[in-house]
Amino acid sequence: MKDEFDTIPLWTVRAVEDLGPEYAVPAACRGSGSPQAQAWLAERLGLTERSLLIDVGAGMGGAAELAAHRSGAEVVLVEPMLGACRAARQLFDRPTVAAAGEALPFADGAFDAAWSLGVLCTSTDQFAMLRELRRIVRPSGAIGLLVYIKTVDQLPRQPEGNDFPTRQGLERLVSGAGMRIVDRAELTDFDSPPDWWQRRVAAVDDLLRDRHHHDPRWQNAANQEAIITELLDDELVVGTMMILAPVNE
Ligand SMILES: C[S@@+](CC[C@H](N)C(=O)[O-])C[C@H]1O[C@@H](n2cnc3c(N)ncnc32)[C@H](O)[C@@H]1O
Repeated sequence: MKDEFDTIPLWTVRAVEDLGPEYAVPAACRGSGSPQAQAWLAERLGLTERSLLIDVGAGMGGAAELAAHRSGAEVVLVEPMLGACRAARQLFDRPTVAAAGEALPFADGAFDAAWSLGVLCTSTDQFAMLRELRRIVRPSGAIGLLVYIKTVDQLPRQPEGNDFPTRQGLERLVSGAGMRIVDRAELTDFDSPPDWWQRRVAAVDDLLRDRHHHDPRWQNAANQEAIITELLDDELVVGTMMILAPVNE
């Protein structure tokens, strides 16, 4: 995961510097689905200019930046990979904390809302991450998740560092962690990103490939991405979105 989530973000910053700032948000949304899916989550979380949102596993911070732009919410990014933290700071300069989702360095109820997009399957303790998300959101707050889940028991290929829960397994984890599902959607319910967005993502990807394709770190990250793309294309893995509310004990 280090190549994909630590090295690639630093290379991405250089690509954005060369291509232009309008490439930053599309390039820095990795795994977070389409901007339309993110808008659904932001709206269901009730984000406004008075909200404080924490993005857990924020990567390069593109999704949080878009949420901040759209709603005026203040955002805090949490991300364990230092390369991604540096990239997020350089691209958007939002408050960014290097930490893992299973041990968040914040007080109980510190945030109005939390989200975590495409992250849970990379955690080695998914229950602990969900408990932490619940803990740091105020009792009347909300938590948004985009989770990649598997639709079969055995996947033909397993991308490194990913443990996809089943839908039932995810629902059990959510209720065990003290939350209830108040709304849900599937990633496939939303249109693909608009053409201009896809063109910018492709331009950054092309530049990264031109510059780094001889580098084993680029090759490893590209292989991991190809495995996930294939699983998604075959619908063996799908993206599911949930809005969760803390169940007050
Ligand atoms: C597929 S990327 C998604 C990044 C971002 N949420 C987005 O949608 O663009 C998964 C991110 O989760 C981070 N991650 C991995 N393990 C984590 C953990 N235990 N706690 C928090 N984040 C983690 C990775 O470093 C990576 O940045």
